[in-house]
Amino acid sequence: MFKIDSLRQLDADIKARLSEKRYAHTLGVKACAIKLAKLVGIEDLDLIEAAAMLHDITKEFEDAWHIDLLIKSGGEISDSDLKNTPILHSYSAPIYIKKYFSEFATEDVLSAVEKHTVGSPDMSVFDEVIFIADYIEDGRTYDSCVNLRKFVFENMRDGDTRNNITVLHRAVLKSIDETILNLIKKNKVICVKSILTRNSIIDKI
Ligand SMILES: [Fe+2]
Ligand SMILES: [Fe+2]
Repeated sequence: MFKIDSLRQLDADIKARLSEKRYAHTLGVKACAIKLAKLVGIEDLDLIEAAAMLHDITKEFEDAWHIDLLIKSGGEISDSDLKNTPILHSYSAPIYIKKYFSEFATEDVLSAVEKHTVGSPDMSVFDEVIFIADYIEDGRTYDSCVNLRKFVFENMRDGDTRNNITVLHRAVLKSIDETILNLIKKNKVICVKSILTRNSIIDKI
């Protein structure tokens, strides 16, 4: 899909821009996303790799930077988004990718990057692969991540795409439930989009 050496160059650019910890996480997401993509029948692994490599490209910028960029770009930021500032990087990243990584700014990549934190009511299987890879990559050590990783790889089967897509939907539901329960425990605002994503996933299962 991409020019020869483009992905190699992308890897070098990402490595130069991210901290060591974030870069290691990014490589973990890439490996996990490629594994999941094969299991759910996605053929363009270059696109999956690009989305995984770019998903946290703006994660290390300050809240004010994201808010400023989003306002200048005419994007809407909901009240619940502003109260969950760790998700803002998923909205700023597509704008940043279009500007600095335009070769990779395909519809699939931009959509998956935008939806990797709280999802969306219209997630594709591609979007769900990046969403779950971000949650269960091997570097994640929280119990909820380890348990979900186990659930996914114990229930997906080589060559059974239909089953594996259902497992993927169930994994998205479980991860959203975990996130919402944590926010409730901490008495924090729940992003409205998380609820909308949850409702849409229930319809798919
Ligand atoms: Fe992220
Ligand atoms: Fe991430």
